[in-house]
Amino acid sequence: MGETYEITDLMIKDHKEIIDCLNRIKHSTGEGSNLVSELFDKLKWVLEKHIFVEEKAIFTFFNPKIKEDYREIPCILEEHNLILDMLSKLDKQLTDTGNIDISEFKRVLEKHKNFEENSLYPKLDRNLDKSQKDIIIKRIREITCKE
Ligand SMILES: [Fe+2]
Ligand SMILES: [Fe+2]
Repeated sequence: MGETYEITDLMIKDHKEIIDCLNRIKHSTGEGSNLVSELFDKLKWVLEKHIFVEEKAIFTFFNPKIKEDYREIPCILEEHNLILDMLSKLDKQLTDTGNIDISEFKRVLEKHKNFEENSLYPKLDRNLDKSQKDIIIKRIREITCKE
């Protein structure tokens, strides 16, 4: 039986939605702060939902017994805090000035997502047993509604 990468595939789809939001914000600068606010609101929704899924549905498999195999998880969690912090600073900046520069935010997010897509998620797809994966996939779908 060939290997399947269901968790990876679902999370790649969710990452695409986040990057799509970022690109729309980038291309809407100069088109009025109402549009940017609307797009930023959507970005906040998809990104906070995404991080919730990762931390509450996926990383729950993580326990002290297997800590050695997943040394990257604490670092990923730290990056989530950094990302959420940057998001709330951008939110404030947008409210105060009507304008935002998302280039640094995009750089941080892309690095983070590439690591998850190329390393962490394929490893989970290979190593978790079927019952663990089934629960995780069901929960991802409950929140993201991905096919
Ligand atoms: Fe993440
Ligand atoms: Fe992610």
